[in-house]
Amino acid sequence: MENLSKHIPVLVNEVIAALQPETGKTYLDGTFGGGGHARAILDTSAPNGRVVAVDRDENVTVFAEAVAKQYGDRFEFHVLKYADCDQLEREFDGAVLDLGMSTDQLTGSWRGFSFQRNEPLDLRFETTGQTAAQFLQQSSASAIEQVFREYAQDRYAKKLAAKIVNERRVRPIRTTTDFVEYVGTNNPKVLAPLFQALRIHVNDELVNIKRGLEVVSSVLRPGSVLAVISFHSLEDKIVKEFFRGSDYELLTKKPVEPTQEEIKNNPSSRSAKLRTGRKRLTDTSIE
Ligand SMILES: C[S@@+](CC[C@H](N)C(=O)[O-])C[C@H]1O[C@@H](n2cnc3c(N)ncnc32)[C@H](O)[C@@H]1O
Repeated sequence: MENLSKHIPVLVNEVIAALQPETGKTYLDGTFGGGGHARAILDTSAPNGRVVAVDRDENVTVFAEAVAKQYGDRFEFHVLKYADCDQLEREFDGAVLDLGMSTDQLTGSWRGFSFQRNEPLDLRFETTGQTAAQFLQQSSASAIEQVFREYAQDRYAKKLAAKIVNERRVRPIRTTTDFVEYVGTNNPKVLAPLFQALRIHVNDELVNIKRGLEVVSSVLRPGSVLAVISFHSLEDKIVKEFFRGSDYELLTKKPVEPTQEEIKNNPSSRSAKLRTGRKRLTDTSIE
């Protein structure tokens, strides 16, 4: 069956080893993307395991339709943030969250996720709220500085924010190229964190992760495994703290990272960190 997505799922064997999907059980994929993890769970939980998947980007629906075609009613998809998955009014036997963005969003969505392409500087997963270009055109220097400082740890955050605010009336920022010109370098080591900082801000990503972990946890049955893959230290810190302070038995004392072979085959996996935990049985569930 043709897979339309170009995204290669990260740490997929390790996620499956942690979840140990079984037939007859139902799993939540909170970040469906191209459906790589969902497919792996469906394959390993045949013949009757189910996956309920959500994603906040409605553009992934096309990939969800392909999965539905292949797996029939073992699979369902909703355009939803995982922080809202309690709205589904379901309970799950395991869940995976694969944070961040997919290759399809990076290379095929025309929303400015890649600084290597000249596209509108949008960076939203959804179609509501302020775009990154609007944020840079309309916000105060201190608000812009804060985003670059907190989310990109950029040493020149103050200087860059001042330059944007001083010149944006005559040199408006509409596209990725407009913004790259303000930064004044093509160095990916400088640009990648700045683009990521804007993406984190416009999508309110860190708040979504914090709230999302709590909500996903609330819909997991005791004894179920939660697997979370993060891609940068701000995300990983939240995940680590969540597992430490919550009602989970840690299955990974140290995060699992991709092997050199996986990184070679899929360079986008290089910064991935997988943390997994098993939701503890409550007093009432131990009979
Ligand atoms: C790294 S990709 C997931 C790839 C997927 N696991 C696969 O194997 O194809 C992350 C996906 O999560 C989605 N996403 C990001 N934040 C989200 C949120 N708070 N709720 C739901 N989906 C989210 C993005 O739109 C993106 O499609």
